[in-house]
Amino acid sequence: MTAEGHGDFEALGQQWDERYAATDRVFRVVPNEILAELVSGLNPGTAVDLGAGEGRNSLWLASQGWSVTAVDASSVGLGKLISNANDLSLDVTTVVGDLWDFMETSRANGTLVDLVVLAYIQVIASERPSLLNAAAALLRPGGHLFVVAHHMDSLGHAGPPDPERLFVEEDLARIEGLSTDRLELLHGPSDLPESGTDVFLWAKHGVDGDLH
Ligand SMILES: C[S@@+](CC[C@H](N)C(=O)[O-])C[C@H]1O[C@@H](n2cnc3c(N)ncnc32)[C@H](O)[C@@H]1O
Repeated sequence: MTAEGHGDFEALGQQWDERYAATDRVFRVVPNEILAELVSGLNPGTAVDLGAGEGRNSLWLASQGWSVTAVDASSVGLGKLISNANDLSLDVTTVVGDLWDFMETSRANGTLVDLVVLAYIQVIASERPSLLNAAAALLRPGGHLFVVAHHMDSLGHAGPPDPERLFVEEDLARIEGLSTDRLELLHGPSDLPESGTDVFLWAKHGVDGDLH
């Protein structure tokens, strides 16, 4: 399965490779502001950035002392991450692969982390529950899930042109085992043009044992 729900994984990787190779930066250098604001309140731990792309969020997390694993279909995107990490003397583990496989393997190995980031993984609606529940299952007790996605209100302004890939709040409202701290809309500019709208979720694994 691919997070983008069409074609095979190889085609997905190739498509993103071409996009990342065509220009110096496809996405911004700075991390998502809300992620940075929310994570600043935590003690650094272990994090997984699923669909990390060129790695802006992974690099920022590493700069804050987090031990980060960045997963992406694109070796070109992760190549930029590695090059930037070297320039900044930061250490980020990279995995070129399908994030669905990564989640399955992590779960099978019992590898749990303190933070999972899903930034702009615009899966179709029918795949959202399994993506979000699988991401939540990677969290240790007390760990946090951060999700940001382009919202339906962005249609024609920002994000994918296909409404099937735009999120609504309800998509993020019920994730197994998590309690929601914040579920809000964001209006540009930030990661967005002036006219764009995103939705973000900050949720916590609901079991006792929070070390943060
Ligand atoms: C819109 S970009 C977002 C990049 C990054 N999260 C950010 O906010 O800058 C989406 C990324 O998800 C990756 N992606 C989508 N589906 C994936 C999958 N099934 N496995 C691994 N990576 C995937 C793409 O390769 C792409 O780099």
